[in-house]
Amino acid sequence: MKITVINGSEKKGVTYKLKEAFLEGFKDKAEITEFYLPKDCPNFCMGCIRCFGDGEDKCKDREYIAPIEKALLEADLLVFTSPVYVYHVTGAMKNLLDHFGYRWMPHRPAKEMFGKRAVIITQCLGGGESSTAKDIKDSLSWWGVTWIKTVKFKLMSEIRWDKIPDKKKDAMVSSVKKLAAKCAAIDYSKPARSGLLAKGKFMAVRMMQTGLGKENPEYRDFNYWKDNGWLGSARPWK
Ligand SMILES: Cc1cc2nc3c(=O)[nH]c(=O)nc-3n(C[C@H](O)[C@H](O)[C@H](O)COP(=O)(O)O)c2cc1C
Repeated sequence: MKITVINGSEKKGVTYKLKEAFLEGFKDKAEITEFYLPKDCPNFCMGCIRCFGDGEDKCKDREYIAPIEKALLEADLLVFTSPVYVYHVTGAMKNLLDHFGYRWMPHRPAKEMFGKRAVIITQCLGGGESSTAKDIKDSLSWWGVTWIKTVKFKLMSEIRWDKIPDKKKDAMVSSVKKLAAKCAAIDYSKPARSGLLAKGKFMAVRMMQTGLGKENPEYRDFNYWKDNGWLGSARPWK
């Protein structure tokens, strides 16, 4: 199996240790590709909207985005990690998610995303872990992913791994390992089922694209939907 990890920070701190604990059981079973932010996506999305209008290949940051996108599309399991920074994901993670705005369902979602599984790992000192997980989940679910599991923690006293009491560390590690065991037991030859919510969102966008295509038959997103057969009977889920 293939796992692609997007690390929202380059720091080898608490988030990193939890992610390592998650991956431990996969080391000899899976092909793991990791990206570290901001190193692997160092430039900001400037809002030029070329990805939406002219195509993703026109993004000024395509050299960084293309290998990340390839690894995301090829993976059986996606792992996104971020510490909480002022109640949200790190700026580096938000920047990466911005670069994939064109993959949101109202634009040009990748069909591969509809059967994929994903895990979100986040932790904070005292608050903001739910809004941080939601930052990532919003993008994943609008990309079409429906099987999304989250592990989130409040550290409450100390944020340096070596200073965190052993009892607390053990509880966090055991929780991520439990989720890892659940993920390892999955038969990845069978795609995850797309739920009613994802299907509903897809059908609403399908109606919108049909209308937009009538107004402008050259519209890029409309043609993408048409070429995929989604305005007819084809669907991205199995
Ligand atoms: C810039 C910055 C902002 C933070 N904001 C919050 C916050 O809003 N809520 C919180 O509970 N912890 C906050 N923290 C603590 C982090 O979520 C985290 O627990 C800590 O940085 C350790 O994680 P790491 O070792 O993976 O970097 C913040 C830390 C930094 C550096």
